[in-house]
Amino acid sequence: MAEKLKKGLFITFEGPEGSGKSTHSRRLSEELKREGYDVIHTAEPGSTPLGKKIRDILLEKEDVRLGGLAELLLFEADRAQHVEEVIRPALDGGEIILCDRFNTATFAYQGYALGMDMDLVETVDRAATGGIRPDLVILLDVEAGTGLARAAAAHSKDRMEKRSHEFHEKVRKGYLAIAGKDPERFKVIKVREEIDETYRLVKEQVKGAIEKYRVR
Ligand code: TMP
Repeated sequence: MAEKLKKGLFITFEGPEGSGKSTHSRRLSEELKREGYDVIHTAEPGSTPLGKKIRDILLEKEDVRLGGLAELLLFEADRAQHVEEVIRPALDGGEIILCDRFNTATFAYQGYALGMDMDLVETVDRAATGGIRPDLVILLDVEAGTGLARAAAAHSKDRMEKRSHEFHEKVRKGYLAIAGKDPERFKVIKVREEIDETYRLVKEQVKGAIEKYRVR
């Protein structure tokens, strides 16, 4: 039977490199669909035709020089298009949106780690999102070195993954600092050795959020 929610539910998955967020969010998306929910699984950057081109520049085209401001604006341009084409329509349609990375990534990577002015980051981000923010953020926390090693074992390194260990340590600390300020919306889950155990903890949080909005 189709399950209905009182409103669209926007859940994002965040974490340092190699935290396993996409594995868990995909699995959850399949499970929720089987249970009868309207779910879309999406990711940033790169989930619109424009976004795919932007992602390529941001992560793959390392011969293209990219300053901090351009990097910030490209992530936000990807987001503006993603919100317009995918996220807002799904929210308006009452769906559950599971999104790998959203604006918390910009605050952690471009704000905390790259050192861009946080007021500027927030201002540009507000314009890109039109004020839409996640109802729940699942932060999968993993030590930077462990995550980078996991990512390196899975695929060749992109522009971000080639940055220093120090940069990625700052990303992790940034994520934890942001989450610490808003414990209602941010749920920090430490990545376990046992993947099914991590998944169980993720699912528990997401199911809790869904329950609040389920029409009985
Ligand atoms: P991923 O899709 O494999 O997670 O790669 C996305 C990369 O882009 C990852 O290194 C995090 C980075 N990123 C930012 O630096 N800022 C952002 O706003 C977003 C969405 C991602």
